[in-house]
Amino acid sequence: MFKFEHVKYKDIIDIDNLNINLGEVTCIIGPSGSGKSTCLRLINKLISPTTGIISLNGENIANINSVEYRRKVPMLSQSPVSFPGNIRDNLLMGRKFQGKNEVSDSDLQNALDKVSLDEPLDKNIENLSGGEQQRVSIARLMLLDSDIFLLDEPSSALDDITEDFVIKSMVNMAKSQNKTIIYVTHSNSMAEKYSDRVIKIVDGRVNNG
Ligand SMILES: Nc1ncnc2c1ncn2[C@@H]1O[C@H](COP(=O)(O)OP(=O)(O)OP(=O)(O)O)[C@@H](O)[C@H]1O
Ligand SMILES: [Mg+2]
Repeated sequence: MFKFEHVKYKDIIDIDNLNINLGEVTCIIGPSGSGKSTCLRLINKLISPTTGIISLNGENIANINSVEYRRKVPMLSQSPVSFPGNIRDNLLMGRKFQGKNEVSDSDLQNALDKVSLDEPLDKNIENLSGGEQQRVSIARLMLLDSDIFLLDEPSSALDDITEDFVIKSMVNMAKSQNKTIIYVTHSNSMAEKYSDRVIKIVDGRVNNG
């Protein structure tokens, strides 16, 4: 499990005690500017606590090599970047970073089906809409050989029906393979429908009320 102990980050985050279980889908909600992205960035080791400790299964993540750690605990940022090239290039990009073998086109197509994107793998990424590029980014993340995934508002650019489909298939994948998902959303309905646990952050603190 992830454990936050007396974690502060500048004057933005102040979390005295928080556990996040592995094998569960945890959703982080809260008002804009409350510290949700900062919290995810702390878990991803993009930033380090000013004071306090975040541990994973008892090991202080500050002591783990950052590159190795981020392969194990990859994150989709709130404004994901697409890479120049086609959809296939973009889907394979993350796996190259992990040093994994290329995957077959049928596996890539399958990953696109899971995010409800019916576009050819050869299509240039520039010719996709913002929401379509967001779905390619989710598919890229889910193709990684990792057990823990962090996603910062992965469905912010999607319509309600597509959002529901994408989050549901992401959660189903996690459940069937015993993976861990921690994601931020502004959608209370997604949070309630598709997570084992909802953590509300208000003014940088976990709000239990
Ligand atoms: N590197 C930084 N230095 C200083 N302040 C920052 C930094 N990053 C974020 N902040 C501030 O910290 C607060 C929390 O930001 P954060 O991005 O975590 O909010 P959020 O809950 O993800 O909001 P949103 O829902 O709008 O994405 C904001 O007031 C923001 O301006
Ligand atoms: Mg944010």
